[in-house]
Amino acid sequence: MDVIVINGGKVLNGSVAASGAKNAALPLLFAALLAEGEHRFDNVPLLKDIETTELLLNHLNCETQRAGNRLKVTVNEPEELVAPYDIVRKMRASILCLGPLLARYGKAKVSLPGGCAIGSRPINLHIEPLRQLGAHIEIENGYVIAVAKKLVGNHIVFDFATVGGTENIMMAATLCRGTTVLENVAREPEIVDLARCLRSMGAQIEGAGTHVITIEGVDELKPARHSVIPDRIEAGTLLLAGAITGGDVKVTHCVPADLDALINKLADCGFAIETGQDWVRVKPCDRWRSVDVGTAPHPGFPTDLQAQFMALMTQANGTSVITERIFENRFMHVQELVRMGADITPKPQVAVVCGNQGGLSGAPVMATDLRASACLILAGLVAEGETVVSRIYHLDRGYENLEVKLASLGARIERRSV
Ligand code: UD1
Repeated sequence: MDVIVINGGKVLNGSVAASGAKNAALPLLFAALLAEGEHRFDNVPLLKDIETTELLLNHLNCETQRAGNRLKVTVNEPEELVAPYDIVRKMRASILCLGPLLARYGKAKVSLPGGCAIGSRPINLHIEPLRQLGAHIEIENGYVIAVAKKLVGNHIVFDFATVGGTENIMMAATLCRGTTVLENVAREPEIVDLARCLRSMGAQIEGAGTHVITIEGVDELKPARHSVIPDRIEAGTLLLAGAITGGDVKVTHCVPADLDALINKLADCGFAIETGQDWVRVKPCDRWRSVDVGTAPHPGFPTDLQAQFMALMTQANGTSVITERIFENRFMHVQELVRMGADITPKPQVAVVCGNQGGLSGAPVMATDLRASACLILAGLVAEGETVVSRIYHLDRGYENLEVKLASLGARIERRSV
């Protein structure tokens, strides 16, 4: 088992590049299922979740070949249209194969992903819209079993702007008969990237990035050639690492506009931020103010940066109220931060963080989910003494070499096998 060991107290300085976005790469790889042939993706991060996606694609008779951050996916007709429990349980985003398989082959059997530590995470907002496109769907023995001779376009209004639901239905609708109008959809940059890739495959999609997406179905698509957008959550985590140590850190290979919500909050705290075409720099600040943060769908403050921002607020001057509006149970990092000496009162969906209460002290802590692991590492960077973060398989699902990147900025951090 690997752990991350951090000796806190070093100020980070320097420049570091963001990797490709996990949350963009996953739907893009599943979109490959919409067209047989050889797809090529660039800027694909080396992550456990990408390996799991490859495993599922391999199970569906696709060949995957990696060279650094390039991934070639050769899609062949699957022998069986099944996404088995053993793979889906490792990664909830596996449900994204449902829309493409159903649209392309007229049937699919995909294991129910189940809940996860941060919430119950149902898939009703994937299933119901597919029914509205004409699919017959039943849940049997823990599997979603979907059949549709030919999906037919429809006008669908989402109850909530779900990211995965929007992606699944967008992909399915590309091969529908007729027009599909999707209302109240997610507007995340990853949705825009997926639409860009689907368009390059021959799909007719308008409106990605707004509340309404219109898709004119086509008979077939061609293989993709696509470069994945930069990971805004990783970029934000690296900026917060610079900020919490009072350092001067420039994150390159990112899209500053995708980080607006974080940049605005950092500026409210008193940090000076500079941006260029593809970089963001956070400059040193001795004593930053606490600010309140509430997570919201894009362009609001991302839930995927809430835990890392909370680490920053433990060192702020004043009290911060952090509200989590996307997931019902995304405060599991709070107890670990408290074990490091933070003063945080968690209530349902709200955490009150009293900043600067005598600093944090290093401790053995346990990562409970992907972003919580990044939060604990940020806390470790400023804690006095040694912090050992265990269960870092969560970290490896979604951060490419985070400890190597932080070490390149001067952090005393290493991975150890125990
Ligand atoms: C994606 C991201 C994840 C991020 C989240 C919110 C990927 C692979 N993951 O997850 O990192 O934290 O967006 O920005 O892109 N919901 C339902 N029914 C559904 C679907 C969702 O009730 O059918 C609820 C969820 O339980 C949650 C909320 O809607 O409370 C948001 O979920 P959603 O936007 O779908 O997140 P994911 O696509 O799973």
